[in-house]
Amino acid sequence: MPRLRRYRVFLIFAFIVIALLYHVSKNTQWERFQMAEHGTTGAHSHHKPKPETGHDSSHSHDAAGPDHQVDKPRPAPPKPNLPPPKQHTTTAPASAETSIKIPKLKSTDEAHKGAYGLPKPATTKSRKPPFVDGAFETPSVPIKKPGHGTGHHDDEKPLGETLYADWPPKQTDTSPAATPSAIHWRKPYEYYPIPEEKLIMLPTGRPKSIPKVQFDFSPESPAAKEKRQARLIKIKAEAKKAWTGYRTYAWGHDEVRPVSKGPHDPFCGWAATLVDALDTLWIMGMKKEFEEALEAVKEIDFSTTPYRNDIPVFETIIRYLGGLVGAYDVSGEKYKVLLDKAEELAEILMSVFDTPNRMPVLYYQWRPQDNEVPKRASASSGVAELGSMGMEFTRLAQLTGKNKYYDAIARITDALEELQTREGGTAIPGVFPQNLDASGCNQTAAAERRREREEEARLREEEERRVDEEIRRREEEEDRAAAAAPGHQHRDAEGLKTEGLAFEVRGEDGSAAHGGLAKRFEMSAFRPSPPGMMDDDCIPQPLKAPGYGSDSYSMGGSQDSAYEYFPKQYVLLGGLEPKYRSMHLKTVEGVKNYLLFRPQAKGDPDVLFSAKAFSPDGTDKALTYEYEVTHLTCFLGGMFGLGGKIFDKPEDVEIGKRLAAGCAWAYEVMPTGIMPEYAQILPCDSAVHCHFNETQWGLKVDPYMTDRERQMEEYEKNMAKWREDVVEAKRKNALAEAEEKRRAEEEERAKEEESRRPMNATTPETSPSHAGHDLKEKDNVPVGTLLERRGVIQEGDARGEYRGAAKAAEEKARSVEGALDFNAVPPRNEVWQRPLGQSFIPPEPVKPLTHKEYLDSQKLYPGFTTITDRRYILRPEAIESVWYMYRITGDPIWQDRGWKMWQAVIRATQTEIGHSAIFDVTTNEKHPAETDSMESFWLAETLKYFYLLFEEPDVISLDEWVLNTEAHPFRRPK
Ligand SMILES: *[C@@H]1O[C@H](CO)[C@@H](O)[C@H](O)[C@H]1NC(C)=O
Ligand SMILES: *[C@@H]1O[C@H](CO)[C@@H](O)[C@H](O)[C@H]1NC(C)=O
Ligand SMILES: *[C@@H]1O[C@H](CO)[C@@H](O)[C@H](O)[C@H]1NC(C)=O
Repeated sequence: MPRLRRYRVFLIFAFIVIALLYHVSKNTQWERFQMAEHGTTGAHSHHKPKPETGHDSSHSHDAAGPDHQVDKPRPAPPKPNLPPPKQHTTTAPASAETSIKIPKLKSTDEAHKGAYGLPKPATTKSRKPPFVDGAFETPSVPIKKPGHGTGHHDDEKPLGETLYADWPPKQTDTSPAATPSAIHWRKPYEYYPIPEEKLIMLPTGRPKSIPKVQFDFSPESPAAKEKRQARLIKIKAEAKKAWTGYRTYAWGHDEVRPVSKGPHDPFCGWAATLVDALDTLWIMGMKKEFEEALEAVKEIDFSTTPYRNDIPVFETIIRYLGGLVGAYDVSGEKYKVLLDKAEELAEILMSVFDTPNRMPVLYYQWRPQDNEVPKRASASSGVAELGSMGMEFTRLAQLTGKNKYYDAIARITDALEELQTREGGTAIPGVFPQNLDASGCNQTAAAERRREREEEARLREEEERRVDEEIRRREEEEDRAAAAAPGHQHRDAEGLKTEGLAFEVRGEDGSAAHGGLAKRFEMSAFRPSPPGMMDDDCIPQPLKAPGYGSDSYSMGGSQDSAYEYFPKQYVLLGGLEPKYRSMHLKTVEGVKNYLLFRPQAKGDPDVLFSAKAFSPDGTDKALTYEYEVTHLTCFLGGMFGLGGKIFDKPEDVEIGKRLAAGCAWAYEVMPTGIMPEYAQILPCDSAVHCHFNETQWGLKVDPYMTDRERQMEEYEKNMAKWREDVVEAKRKNALAEAEEKRRAEEEERAKEEESRRPMNATTPETSPSHAGHDLKEKDNVPVGTLLERRGVIQEGDARGEYRGAAKAAEEKARSVEGALDFNAVPPRNEVWQRPLGQSFIPPEPVKPLTHKEYLDSQKLYPGFTTITDRRYILRPEAIESVWYMYRITGDPIWQDRGWKMWQAVIRATQTEIGHSAIFDVTTNEKHPAETDSMESFWLAETLKYFYLLFEEPDVISLDEWVLNTEAHPFRRPK
C-alpha cells in the first residue's frame, strides 16, 4: 500500500502538472490569437481593399503588388459616355461611385462620420478625425522608424487604427454606400507635418509698384476694329466647334478623339478638357456652356480614378487646379463651387509634400495601400514638375487664406534658390539640369557609411571569434582542472555541455560567455540595410544635380515652366517676395550667356532660339550643344518679354521679340505653315555677321556629300558592266526560249498523235491503264498521253522556225532599249520552267542619290539639319509668345504673324468635330494625317491665346492678370 500511495501522490501531481501545462499552452495560443487580431488592424486594411482594386487590366503594369494578381481584379467601371444632359439637376443619379465622396472639409462633425459618409467604428469615436480643416493634425503617435513600410505599430495605439479607422467598411452595413464600387483616396497619416507656427506665410503688406507690362494702346480705327472682330468671330467659331465635339462625344472624359469621336482618359478621367476650358468659355462669352460645365464640375470625384494608380502631380496641378482657380478668378469669384473643388483636389495633392524634406512626390500612388506608407521624393525629379506648382498653390492660399498651401511650394522655391546660389551647384549658373535629386538623401555618403558599417561588422566578427576562442581555451582549462579533481559535478557539466547548454551552467565564466552572446545580438542590429530603406540610411542633403554624365540644360520640355514661374510668381505676390526676382535674373543671365543662338538658315532670319547644353562633368568646362528648335521652348519669348517689362530690362524685351519671331519664322517656313514639335538647326558663329552657307548646311545634313561623286562614278561603271551582262544573259535566254518553244511544239504534236491513237482503240478493256495501273482517263486525255508527257521528245523538223525566233530575240536583247526593258525580263513564274542553262537577268545596280537628291529627300527647309519629331500636337507656346509680344509692344505685326499661324493651324488640323494633332508638318498634302488627339490645352491655351490676340487689350490685361503655364489667368493683387 505505501507503495501505491506513493504512486497515487505521484499521479495526482502529474495530473496537475499536465493540466497546468495545457492551460499555459492554451493561453499562449489565445494570446497569439489576440496579438494577431490586434496587429492586423492596419494590415487587415492593406488586404481588404484588394478585391476592390478594380483597375482594369490595361493598367496592370502599374504598381500593383503580387497580391493583386491573386484577386482577379474586377474590371474598373469605365465612366459612362454620358451625353450632356439637357437639363442638369444638381442631384445626379446617385450611383455608388458618385455618392461616395471625400468629406466637404468643413465641419469636424461631418468628418467624424467618416470619409465618404461611412459610419465610423465605435472604437474610434474619441479620436480626432484624421481629416481636419485647416492645419494638419500633428501625430499623437511618435513614429520611431518612418523608413519602414510596415513596422510602425505602437502597442498602445496601433497606427493602423488611426489610419484605417473607417476602412474597410463594416460588414454589417449593407447599404449600397457601404460597398463602394471603387477604391477611394483616404487622407493618410502625416509623417512629417509642419507645425502651424512654422508654416511659411504668404508675404503680407502693400503690393509693390511693378512697371506696366502692356503697351499703351490708342483707340483703333473703325477699319482695324472691323478686321479684328471678323477674325475674333472666326476663332470663336472654331472654339465652339471643338467644345461641341467634346461635349457631344466625350462629356465627362478627359479628351475627345477628334477623328474617331470617342473619349480618351489620360489624366485620371476627371474631365480634363472640361475643367481646363472653363475660363476660355468665360472669356469667349460662352456663358451658357460655362454654366453647363459648372454643373458637371460639381460631379467630379477627385478621390478616385479607375484609370491610373498614380496621379501625375504636375499635370493635375496645372490643368485641374489651375483650371478651377482660373475659372473662379475670371468669373469674378462668384461660383463658390470652383473654389471648393479646387480645395478638394488640393487637399488630396497636399499629401505629396509629406516627405522628410518636404519635396513633393511627383507621381502620387493614391490608393490607400500604397499611400499609407512614408514617402520620399524621387532622386530624379523633373525640374518643370518640381517648380511649376507655385502659382496654383499661391493663388489658392490667397483665395482661402490658408498658408499651408503657400508653405508647400515656398519650400520648393527655397530649395531651388539654394541650389541656384550654391557655388558649383549647377554646371550653368542660374540654370538647372533637367532632373534633380530631390530625395534629400546623399547616396554617396550613404554608400560610404555602408562601407564603414561593413568594415565595422567585419571587425566585430573578428572580435567575436577571438572571444569564442578565449572561451574555448578557458573551458579546456576548466576541464583539465576538473579532471584533476574527480566528482559528480564534472559528469553533470560534461553531460549538459553536450546538450549545448554549457553557457547557462557555467559558473564564474558566465560573464565572458554572456559577453559573447550580447555581442552577437548587437552585431545583427548593425547589419547594413538595403539602400534608401531605413531612415538612418538617409544622410540629408539639399537639392542636387545628378552630376557626372547626365546633366542637360535647356529651356525646353521638363524644364520650361520652372523658369516661367519665377517672374509670374513675383507678379502674383505683388512683388513682395524678392526671391523670385533674383532667381529670374539669374536664370536669364545663364540663358543669355550659354544657351541663346542665332540660326543659320536660308533668308538669314534675324531671330533667336535657345539651345540645349550637356555637361559631362557637372561644370561648364566641356559643354556640348544641341541646337534645338522645339515647340515647347517657344514660351521663352513671352517669359523674356514679361520679365523684361516687370524688372525694367529693355534688353530682355528685345531678346523676347527675337525669340518669339524665331518661332513665328519656324511656322512660316514649313510646308504646312506649322512648326514641328522637335527639330535641329544650324547655328551661326556670330549673332551679328550671319550668312547662310549652303555648303556648310549641306555638309551637316549630308555627311557623305563628298563621297557621293565617287559613288556616282562607281555607279556608272557598274551600270556599263550590268548592261553588257544583261545583253549576254538575254541572248542566252532567247536561245533557250526558242529551244523551249520548239520543244513545246514537239510535245504538242506528239500529244496530238497520241490522242488520236487511243480514240481508235478498241475497248477500254485493252487499254494499258486497265492492264496494270490504277490510272483513269481524265478530262478525255488519254492515259497514255499522261504517261508519255515527260518522255523523250523526238526531233522534229522545225529547224527553220527555231532559227528565226532565236534571231529575233537575240537582236532585241542586243539593243540597249531591250536590255533596259524590264518587260523583256521573263516573269518570275516562268523561270522555274526553263530548262537548265537559262541565265538570270542580273539586278540593276541601285542608283545612289546625288547630294541634291539626298537633301530633297530629307524635306528640310535649308538651315534645318534634322526634324526629329514632325508632329504638331496643337501646342500653344508659339502663339503664347506672339500674344505677349503684341500686348507688350502694341505692334500689329504680331497680330499679322498670329493670323498666318492661325490659318495654317486650322487648315491642317480641323476635323469634322474638332481639331486633331497631325503627324507631319512637312507634308505637302492638303490634309496631313491626323493622330486623332486633341489635348485639353487646345481649348485651354492655344485657342485662348489666338482669341486674346484679337480681343481688346484690356481683356485679360497683363497688368491685371498673370497666367499660369496652362494659360489660366489669376488675378494680380491690386
Ligand atoms: C554627399 O556626401 C559626400 C560624401 O560624404 C560629400 O562629399 C558631398 O558633398 C555630399 N553632397 C551633398 C550635396 O551634400
Ligand atoms: C561655306 O562653308 C564651306 C565649308 O565649311 C567653306 O569651305 C566655305 O568657304 C564657306 N563659304 C563661305 C562663303 O563662307
Ligand atoms: C482511226 O484511225 C484511222 C486510221 O487508222 C483514221 O482514219 C480514223 O480517222 C481514226 N478515227 C478517229 C476517230 O480518230
